[in-house]
Amino acid sequence: MKPYEKLLLENRAWADEKKAHDPDFFNKLLHQQTPKFLWIGCSDSRVPAEIVVNATPGEIFVHRNIANQIITTDFNSLSVVQFAVEVLEVEHIVVCGHYGCGGIKAALEEQRAHLTLVNNWLMHIKDIYRLHQESVESATSEDARIDRMVELNIIEQIYKLAHTPIVQQAWKSRRAPSLHGWVYGLDDGLIQELVLLNHEYSNDPIYRYRDLGHTE
Ligand code: CO
Repeated sequence: MKPYEKLLLENRAWADEKKAHDPDFFNKLLHQQTPKFLWIGCSDSRVPAEIVVNATPGEIFVHRNIANQIITTDFNSLSVVQFAVEVLEVEHIVVCGHYGCGGIKAALEEQRAHLTLVNNWLMHIKDIYRLHQESVESATSEDARIDRMVELNIIEQIYKLAHTPIVQQAWKSRRAPSLHGWVYGLDDGLIQELVLLNHEYSNDPIYRYRDLGHTE
């Protein structure tokens, strides 16, 4: 059996098992999607969003990319945020990074000549390093240095979300979503919360968004 054939076989077994347990399982999901969570995670195969929080289909709207970044000129991540916040009206956005992240490790090294696109994607992490260089360099080992950057990157993504007009408008109109920065441990499978922002958070004036269509 070829490796990909195993996936298709497992898919059949999974669907059969779901139907055996609840004959209506797929029918219920067919006509509605009402997840309360948007999950922004790393593409790393070891941190599968639904599995690590034991979620079922329909529970979490997911976006994953290298090193769980929100880049405000990236249509992909921002479209996901806009759809989740304005159409699905999620209550929570989780940015879940993970210790030992290869994307963060690569960002702390020289750029690789052949990875022209990845280099640019990781450039934003180098910028975060520059902001927090002293704190990162005070780490006592190479692993600790990477893990400190993992945490700082997650926290930075939460602030980037808070800076978007999408989130600021939703905070104003429905006092949601709350923004959760989480870090996952590859060694024990456990998640810790690093930061939590909600509608009471006040952005620095240069990031504030005023909707000119509404007078106050
Ligand atoms: Co990663």
